[in-house]
Amino acid sequence: MRSHYCGALDESLVGQTVTLCGWAGRRRDHGGVIFVDLRDAQGVAQVVFDPTDKESFAVAESVRTEYVLRVTGNVRRRPAGTVNTQLPTGSIEVAVTKIEILNRADALPFQLDEPGLSEAVRLKYRYLDLRRDFMQRNIRLRHRVVKILRRYLEDNGFLEVETPMLTRSTPEGARDYLVPSRTHPGHFFALPQSPQLFKQLLMVAGYERYYQVVRCFRDEDLRADRQPEFTQLDIETSFLDEDGVMAIMEDMMRRLFKEVMNLDLPNPLPRLSYAEAVRRFGSDRPDLRVPLELVDVADLVKNVEFKVFREPANNPKGRVAALRVPSGGEKLTRSQIDEYTVFVGQYGAKGLAYIKVNDAAKGRDGLQSPILKFLPDDAIAEIMKRTGAKTGDLIFFGADTAKVVNDALGALRLKLGDDLGLKDEAWKILWVVDFPMFEYDAESKRWVALHHPFTSPKADAMESFDKDPSTAIARAYDMVLNGSEIGGGSIRIHRTDVQERVFATLGIDHDEARAKFGFLLDALKFGAPPHGGIAFGLDRVCAIMAGVDSIRDVIAFPKTQKASCLLTEAPAPVDEKQLRELSLRLRVAPKTEGEPAAVAGDVKSG
Ligand code: AMO
Ligand code: AMP
Repeated sequence: MRSHYCGALDESLVGQTVTLCGWAGRRRDHGGVIFVDLRDAQGVAQVVFDPTDKESFAVAESVRTEYVLRVTGNVRRRPAGTVNTQLPTGSIEVAVTKIEILNRADALPFQLDEPGLSEAVRLKYRYLDLRRDFMQRNIRLRHRVVKILRRYLEDNGFLEVETPMLTRSTPEGARDYLVPSRTHPGHFFALPQSPQLFKQLLMVAGYERYYQVVRCFRDEDLRADRQPEFTQLDIETSFLDEDGVMAIMEDMMRRLFKEVMNLDLPNPLPRLSYAEAVRRFGSDRPDLRVPLELVDVADLVKNVEFKVFREPANNPKGRVAALRVPSGGEKLTRSQIDEYTVFVGQYGAKGLAYIKVNDAAKGRDGLQSPILKFLPDDAIAEIMKRTGAKTGDLIFFGADTAKVVNDALGALRLKLGDDLGLKDEAWKILWVVDFPMFEYDAESKRWVALHHPFTSPKADAMESFDKDPSTAIARAYDMVLNGSEIGGGSIRIHRTDVQERVFATLGIDHDEARAKFGFLLDALKFGAPPHGGIAFGLDRVCAIMAGVDSIRDVIAFPKTQKASCLLTEAPAPVDEKQLRELSLRLRVAPKTEGEPAAVAGDVKSG
């Protein structure tokens, strides 16, 4: 239907006749001449209708925004002074000799260039939203990212293998999405939270280097960087240790950033232990663009009068830490400090003590703080020294369980970075390594795997991890970019006895382990090689590269924060016949929540 793409026209075509197809942007009538910006998948070209060609001109007069057109005309240079340097095709235009309206369009629910559209509207009319420049750029960027990653992996001997979507629960710490089986009444498939066990079985099967661009499903609380279905670049290798896996993977990421962003990531990527990351940044995915650090001061306040500090300072699970904000004393008002106190409250902090440094040279007299009277001179002097506080600075304090202090000051650190513009624009990427194997879950009163239960302990914890789960370190690694966990993986357990001991530590007894993971335990007995891998969150990588806050902006058809699709209105009730075929009866009638139910069905509660 076309001879050229609109976006591909340039001065080399001046004098030639071209036929274009695309969508009409706003029509502009100027002194009897009509201009239309015609848009296709490759870009925009200006097409011009002259009133002397009465037939075409009459058709052009009826063109509305987003009509689908086919035009034929001559490429010519734009007159001097009308060149649009913002547009790749801005030095030429097409003088139309023939126009065909291929399809009309109703008035749109929003203009494509309208700023500040609500997400609800964007998602309901996603096919229009996707027409916008912003989304076109994001979706095309995503395509390039996947293409480059695939090419890298193929060049390095990785084989793409598909694994099942209808499967058993794969524990990654979220709830499963379940699919009822018609042929096995009362039985359910789970959609994979990740292909973890299948990729390990592929290593047992001798493929050695596997990858897959794969959809994963997790029913968890959604945030800007989480979707119920998301895409992993999933990878597994045999006969590589953690240094080997990390070396290839960071090489891949360096290639990706070089090709897409022309950015040179460091070689090698820096590494930080989990313990150090949490100690200095209060987080296992530190955003190193923010130059603020937590400093421990518990040892200085063990005997002070101030109970708020003294008690956590003497509690083995407690932490007292300081966070110095350069020039914070000058920049932050009392009411802003009050707002930050409310902010850290969301993370469980009961307060936010602070010291304002009015004059560092004057010792105690140069400081201003409601807690000063509770602290002895030597403690104050050492706090000043350790935090490196200078005149004009402000020091915040957190005192509580280590978890509360890390969460609260870790989040405050990021917020201050944003609010005070402290973030440097650079990209900060690193590995976080040496994760604990287990974490104690006070609620269920048992140990849970920090990564997943198939992660190997380090050699020196091999004998002791089940006797002392609190100190065992895992052979796990996360890749962190600008404070976002973009990938995580580990060296796996390849021995049945070790895997069984990990299950036992997690409170999964022999029978339960057999019932849930018997196939894995069996497979490990038949010559499983040492193996390990990683999975990257592709949506997150693309979102960061595109410079958008939400992964929804790099997913063509995402779900809302409430895990529904506004476009198709999924999930939706089903009719009684389908339920009966699946041997299901609902315990409650489906709520409509104002969104029209597709089929209400004849369902009874109970
Ligand atoms: P993990 O659970 O860390 O590891 O997941 C790997 C990466 O996937 C991304 N991610 C998500 N992205 C969007 N929405 C979500 N709900 C979501 N959940 C996770 C993150 C994360 O780093 N099987 C292991 C990998 C392995 O050990 O090889 C796994 O799934 O960027
Ligand atoms: P109070 O003695 O409770 O009035 O607290 C004195 C100061 O300590 C106030 O600035 C509080 O915000 C702060 N504070 C109280 N509890 C904590 C805590 N757990 N961690 C840090 N600061 C706190």
